[in-house]
Amino acid sequence: MDATEAQSAEAFFASAPPLKDREVIVARVEEFVRRRLPIGGTRMVCITSGGTTVPLERKCVRFIDNFSSGHRGAASTECFLKAGYAVIFINRRGSAQPFCRSLPEDPLLTCFEPDGNKGIQPDPKHAVVVQEAVTEYHSALKTGYLLHLPYTTLFEYLEILRIVSLSSQQLQRHCMFYLAAAVSDFYVPWNSMVEHKIQSGVGPMAMELAQVPKMLMLLRHVWAPEAFCVSFKLETDTNILMKKAEAARERYGMHAVVANELETRKQKVIVVTSEGQKLVEKDAFQADVEIPLVNFLIAQQTSYIEAGGVYV
Ligand code: PMT
Repeated sequence: MDATEAQSAEAFFASAPPLKDREVIVARVEEFVRRRLPIGGTRMVCITSGGTTVPLERKCVRFIDNFSSGHRGAASTECFLKAGYAVIFINRRGSAQPFCRSLPEDPLLTCFEPDGNKGIQPDPKHAVVVQEAVTEYHSALKTGYLLHLPYTTLFEYLEILRIVSLSSQQLQRHCMFYLAAAVSDFYVPWNSMVEHKIQSGVGPMAMELAQVPKMLMLLRHVWAPEAFCVSFKLETDTNILMKKAEAARERYGMHAVVANELETRKQKVIVVTSEGQKLVEKDAFQADVEIPLVNFLIAQQTSYIEAGGVYV
């Protein structure tokens, strides 16, 4: 990778606001990774999910956001857990959570009702889905197979991703990065951001946004050089989607790039690997496209491990 890319990434981190509870996060990640040692036992995947916010003020009232619901990351987390992977789930606060997708919109208020004795009980209408969600989520946490690290801003997201990648180096090829988060390409650098709420009534406002350095190259070649790396490419124009996905694979050295189009992303994706393009679609019996997608990627990682890290 070229030196300017590494420098601009370093400059990004040097000027970013300090990550709250950094030591706690580092300790939790290190402990989680340690439990996967010695390598060759449980594989680990780091799943990023949801959209990053870009604050416009340090005491943030306004921010730029994006469309991502976190559904892809949450569904994939369930699939990887079922396949026996340990999962670090880096997700946007408030976006979709694993095991909760079949619950109604406001689970706490809708799924429970007063039991007439100052307590609450599941509403019989939702009892089965509530029981399944609570059991599966808590079992993943209790058995030590799920570590949930929430973020809101772009700064938090990239800091946490860096912590996880550096800590997981020792898992070598048995670690996968599955980067489904929709990460902002533009931001307001912390050192040029105003402290207080931007005032209105001063006419139109012009604002210059800086380019967010792409971290994929650093992740792939410096932070976790042996890990199996999967990135995602989203476009709304199908005419450019595959070209951009192919370019991303080559430029960043990804082991797989999952190309998806906004409208059809829940039905089908095309995975680009060094072997070519593979259409992955959900069939009539599958609830989510993530089921065949995750199966396909696990098989690819197995070949990568068996080939001794050489991905052919
Ligand atoms: O959350 P859902 O509603 O279920 O939707 C899922 C999804 C459409 C968000 C997901 O499938 C997806 O495509 N995520 C990537 C969206 C995207 O816009 O990618 P990008 O072109 O901004 O970035 C490409 C890759 O680089 C991504 O894997 C991203 O995590 C990573 N990236 C991007 C910018 C940046 N500065 N650093 C990065 O590492």
